[in-house]
Amino acid sequence: MAASPELIKQAKQAVGQQAAQLVASGMVVGLGTGSTAAFMIEALGERLRRGEIQGIRGVPTSFQATVLARQAGIPLTSLDEVEEIDLAIDGADEVDPHKNLIKGGGAAHTREKIVASLARELVVVVDESKLVERLGSTFPVPVEVLPIAVMPVMRALTKLGGQPELRMAVKKDGPVITDQGNMVVDVKFADIPDPAALEARINNIPGVVENGLFVGLAGRVLVGHVVDGHPQVRVW
Ligand code: A5P
Repeated sequence: MAASPELIKQAKQAVGQQAAQLVASGMVVGLGTGSTAAFMIEALGERLRRGEIQGIRGVPTSFQATVLARQAGIPLTSLDEVEEIDLAIDGADEVDPHKNLIKGGGAAHTREKIVASLARELVVVVDESKLVERLGSTFPVPVEVLPIAVMPVMRALTKLGGQPELRMAVKKDGPVITDQGNMVVDVKFADIPDPAALEARINNIPGVVENGLFVGLAGRVLVGHVVDGHPQVRVW
């Protein structure tokens, strides 16, 4: 029987709390975006308040992460000030057996990829619905695009074999605008046999800022699942 939305939420919370335990005093931490990363940020703030850790600094991957970190009392820094990130903790939309990812369901994948690429380790926090055999099977590939290049980029993505769709906003007329002021094109591919090659080909289209294929970046993956009605975390 499929787990209820409440149990899935509890599994995400358990994963977020366990990931926050990986942070040690003095670390620079990449703060991910999405509902699972939000539980991690909350738990990290709680650990600071309890005095379990001190002197950490967060590098947020989005406006959402910035706001949540401030609410949680996590001191923030920026990529101007730090050269390296000790640990980045972030969610994902799909994880394949090689730990390659699709990210960008929250339109934050550009900053997320910058932060992940500077981190000694990217810890991925997901519930088990995100685990897939092949990337692209449940989720399109998000592509952040400069507004003036949306139409040519969509044509080029079609030539690559994809079905591009401009992401539309909810509770706002018109397209989603990213934290960087760009737009997002979601691209459905029938198959992604070589994620690294596709990642490079998409980023080679003029006007593309970044795409949501994360290849070879993930370290540990914390997977939340429900066993006999109880949330549990498996470390992969
Ligand atoms: C943000 O752009 C995404 O990369 C998120 O990390 C992803 O959508 C995961 O979100 P949830 O934890 O809410 O599923």
